[in-house]
Amino acid sequence: MNKNIGIGFRKDFAEEFLSSDILHPAFVELAPENWMGIGGYWKKIIQQVAEKYPITSHGLSLSIGSPEPLDWEFLKQVKSFLKEHNIQIYSEHLSFSKCDNAHLYDLLPIPFREDTIKHVAERIKQVQDFLEMKIAIENVSYYTPVAAEMSELEVINAIVKEADCNLLLDVNNVYVNAFNHQYNAKEFIKGLPLDKVSYIHMAGHEQVEPDLIIDTHGQDIILPVYDLFDYTTQRVRSVPVLLERDINIPALEHLQSEMDKLVEITNNHWKIDYANSKRHIPAAV
Ligand SMILES: [Fe+2]
Repeated sequence: MNKNIGIGFRKDFAEEFLSSDILHPAFVELAPENWMGIGGYWKKIIQQVAEKYPITSHGLSLSIGSPEPLDWEFLKQVKSFLKEHNIQIYSEHLSFSKCDNAHLYDLLPIPFREDTIKHVAERIKQVQDFLEMKIAIENVSYYTPVAAEMSELEVINAIVKEADCNLLLDVNNVYVNAFNHQYNAKEFIKGLPLDKVSYIHMAGHEQVEPDLIIDTHGQDIILPVYDLFDYTTQRVRSVPVLLERDINIPALEHLQSEMDKLVEITNNHWKIDYANSKRHIPAAV
């Protein structure tokens, strides 16, 4: 039984995924940017995916922390894409990736400051009003804070409260940040607005130096991150959980075995089975 565990959909395994029954996620997540406005072969693929599975979406380029105005043309495309595929969940990173018209091709942490809280919360509210749904924002991994005047926890709590949005809790990102910045991951999770967690990400990372981990999404999930997930599931309600694997993709059987481990942990703490109770996972509330 695959209780509410999904997989990040990748073109690398699209054909095998659709033609075999090796991977059986409760839902698939994709980045709208990679699929909006496409035609031909890949359009057919996404239609097949939508027929078979509920889809959730995780954006890459909204750049909610940028100083310049929101890209409304882009948001219009996102809105019609969500509608076209009946996608009820849209999440984005608590970061910025554009500045002064320059695309930085990276998800940089927002400055941990009072003025950022107001700015970002206002933009989240605008996005939510426009999309007519709550969105979830994700805690990102970062390697150095930018102009920080307060803690990341204070900023996340304040933004989620002010914007009245949901939180996508990336458990691996908490582990990576806690390791790199030397704080206690469990204490961090305990300090988050856990009643607002509407979605969870799990992934692997790579330790490149004795004191540095890079958030690659290219390795297996390690035991301490499973432990942190176990700790998390005891403190949040049952929500969709996604296995993210972006590079160095193993055999599908292997991905399924990682999803099975997530199922096992959630079975210990969560009772609702989205995969078998209804066709669509619940919209973020
Ligand atoms: Fe993530």
